[in-house]
Amino acid sequence: MGAEVKIDALLENMTLAEKLGQLTMTAAGHAVTGPVIAGDSVEALRTGTVGNVLNLIGADHVHSWQRLAVEESRLRIPVLFALDILHGYRTLFPIPLAEAGLFDPAMWMATARATAAEAAADGIALTFAPMLDVARDPRWGRAAEGPGEDPWVGRCMAAAKVRGFQGGSLARTDTLAATAKHFVGYAAVTAGREYAALELSERTLREVHLPPFAAAVEAGVAAVMPAFTDLAGLPLTAHRPLLRETLRQRLGFDGVIVSDYNAVAELLEHGIAADEVEAAALALKAGIDIDMMAGAYRRGLPIALQRGLVTMAEVDESVRRVLRLKERLGLFDDPFRRGSQSLPASASVESRHLAREVAARSIVMLTNTRDTLPLGPSPKRLAVLGPLADASAEMRGPWWAAAPPEGHVTVFEGLRAALPATEVRHAPGVPIEDADTSGIAQALALCDGADAVVLCLGEAAVMCGEAASRAHLDLPGAQRSLAEAVLERAHARGVRVIVVLFSGRPLVVPGLIARADAVLAAWFLGSEAGNALADVLTGRISPSGRTTMTWPRAMGQIPIFYAERPSGRPFASDNRYTTRYIDEANEPLFPFGHGLTYGTFALSGLRVAPSVAREGDIIEAHVEVRNEGRRRARETVFLFVRDKVASVTRPLLELRAFGSVTLDPGEQATLTLAVPAHELRFPGPKLEPIFEPGEIEVLVGPGADRKRLLAATLRLDAG
Ligand code: BGC
Repeated sequence: MGAEVKIDALLENMTLAEKLGQLTMTAAGHAVTGPVIAGDSVEALRTGTVGNVLNLIGADHVHSWQRLAVEESRLRIPVLFALDILHGYRTLFPIPLAEAGLFDPAMWMATARATAAEAAADGIALTFAPMLDVARDPRWGRAAEGPGEDPWVGRCMAAAKVRGFQGGSLARTDTLAATAKHFVGYAAVTAGREYAALELSERTLREVHLPPFAAAVEAGVAAVMPAFTDLAGLPLTAHRPLLRETLRQRLGFDGVIVSDYNAVAELLEHGIAADEVEAAALALKAGIDIDMMAGAYRRGLPIALQRGLVTMAEVDESVRRVLRLKERLGLFDDPFRRGSQSLPASASVESRHLAREVAARSIVMLTNTRDTLPLGPSPKRLAVLGPLADASAEMRGPWWAAAPPEGHVTVFEGLRAALPATEVRHAPGVPIEDADTSGIAQALALCDGADAVVLCLGEAAVMCGEAASRAHLDLPGAQRSLAEAVLERAHARGVRVIVVLFSGRPLVVPGLIARADAVLAAWFLGSEAGNALADVLTGRISPSGRTTMTWPRAMGQIPIFYAERPSGRPFASDNRYTTRYIDEANEPLFPFGHGLTYGTFALSGLRVAPSVAREGDIIEAHVEVRNEGRRRARETVFLFVRDKVASVTRPLLELRAFGSVTLDPGEQATLTLAVPAHELRFPGPKLEPIFEPGEIEVLVGPGADRKRLLAATLRLDAG
C-alpha cells in the first residue's frame, strides 16, 4: 500500500482522541520503578492518546514503550521518540558555538552524522537540533547552542547539520529527523533576557534571522520548532503569518511543526488566549502540528471543535503530517529498526577520534604574547590551576543528551597523558560559583617552580544554554580573586600564565585577557576536551578556531556584531558628533573571525573575476596565502562584500564565503573563494529580493577587522 493510501485509511479509522494523540508529545519522567510518562500512564500508549515521547533514553526502554503502542493499541501506530541532541549523544562534540568556529561544513556534517548514528542506535528518531538562532547578544545563554552572530554561517551550518543528522534517507537506521529551531528571532530577546519579548523589523528578520531556516528547509529538514517568545505582539506559537505564510508558503516547508515545551499553554500567560481551548485553537490555526507537553490539544481541541474555533480538516492536516514523518522514518515498516543493533565498539572509538580533532580545531587562541604557546614538548613542571581544570562533567557544556557526568577528559588529565615526563600538578583554587577563597593559597604554592601555569577559568556548563541569561559577563564566584593572585605570584616568579577560558559565550574580561600571557577560548569542548587542549597547548596541533561572535570589551557595547549598517556620522576620533561612546571604544576586543594560529600568515594579490557580474555568474576571488611563521598551521580566510550605494542602506560588511588552507612554514598557496552573484541580492525597498546594478566592494582577510582586509571592486550588471 502506498504511504498516502495507508495514511488515508488510518485517518478514516481514527477517533478524535487517537488523532489528538498523534498531535501530542509527552516527556518521560523517572519514578523509582523506572521511566514513566509524566502525569500520565502507560495507558496513554495503549489507548493511542500519546503518539510522541521525549526524553526517554535507552533502547530497552524505548522498545518496551514502542511495544505498548504497536502491539497493544487499537491502530498500532508507532511512537516517535525525540530528544535534544545538539552536539553529541554519548560522545560529546564541542558545543555548536565552538564548532561553528571551524568554518568547515564537512566537519559540521561529520559530527552530526556520528551523533545520529549513536542516538539512533539507542532508538531515538528525532532530534531537536540544529538550533539556528543568530545571536548577537552574549547575555543570552542560548548563544552557546547555535552558530553565533552571522546569518551566512547559520545558513552553511544549517545545511550541513540537517544533511548530517538526516543522512541520505530518513528510513536508514542510523539517521535522525532534524528540527530547525527556534523559529524565529528568539536570540533577539530584549536585553538578552531569557523568554522576554522581542521587537524585530521585517528587514532584520529577512536579512538576519530567517536565512538559516530557509537553508534548513532547502536541505530537507523534517521538523521546525517555533520559539517560545513574543515577536512584536504575537508569540511565535500562534504566529500565523510567519508559520503559515513565511515558513509553509514562501519557504515551502511541508514537514512537522512541533511547539516548544509547554508553549501552547503559555499563550495564556502571553495574554492572547483566555483558556486552554483558545490556546489550542490559536496554535493549530497557526500551523503547530504537535503540542509538546502542554496537553492543550488533547484537552482543548475537542471543545474548540465544538465551538467552531477549528475544523476537523485542520486537525487531519496536522495528523497527516505527523504520520508522514513516521512513515518517512520507516517506523511503520519496522518500529524497532532504530535500537535493534548496538553500535560496534569501533564506532565509539572513531567518534572519540573525531571529537578530539573537532575539539582541537574549535579552540580559539585569543592572545599569545611573546610566543608563550606552544609549551613545547617537555616542560619540567606545570601547574594546572582553577575550578575548571579537572571538572569532567563541566566539559560537556549544556545539552549533554545521554552522556553521563564522568568520562570526559579534563585539562589536567589531558596534559598528564600528553606529557608523561612532566610533573603536572593541580589545585582548583576556588569553586566555580561560590565565594570560598580558602583554596587559593594551595594554588599559589604550585606556581613556584613551575615552567608555566595553565589557569582554567570560566562558567559552569549550567550557566549557559537555556534559562541562563547573565547581566554580568565576568568570571563567576571568586575566580577573579584567584586569577589576580595567580597572575601576581606567577609573574613575580617569572612564570608565564596561560588562561584557558571555558564559556558558552564571549566573556567580558578585558583585564584578565590583557594580563595573561596567552588566552585560549575553550568554550565547552565535549568528551575529548582535555586531550584537545593538550594537543594545542603542547603544539601537537596549531590552533585554528575562530570566534563566530564578536568579543566585546565592555558590557555597554552589547549587542555587538560586525555587520552593522553605516551611520550618517561615521566614527572620527577627532569629532565628538560622530557615532561613538564618550567612555569606551567602538571596536570590540576581538572581531568576528578572530583566532590566532602558530603560523604567521600574510595575504596578498587579491584578484576578483569577472569584473562585471550578472545574476547567474559565479564571482571568484583568488588570494595568495603565505605562511611566514615557523610552524605548520591552518588559516581561515573570509570574503565579505560591501554594497556602497544601494536603494536601501547595506551593512558595512557582509560575509559571503570562507575557506581554509593548511601551510608549512614558507609555503604559499592560492585560495579561491567563490560566491554565486545571486547571493548579492538583498531585500529591496519593498522587501522583495532584488539584484541591484552597481559597484560592490569585495573584502578578503582573516576576520571582520576592516583594517586587515584586502579590497577589490566589481560591478553588478542587471542585464
Ligand atoms: C527548549 C527547546 C527544547 C525543548 C525540549 C525547551 O525548553 O526551549 O529548545 O527542544 O525544551 O527539551
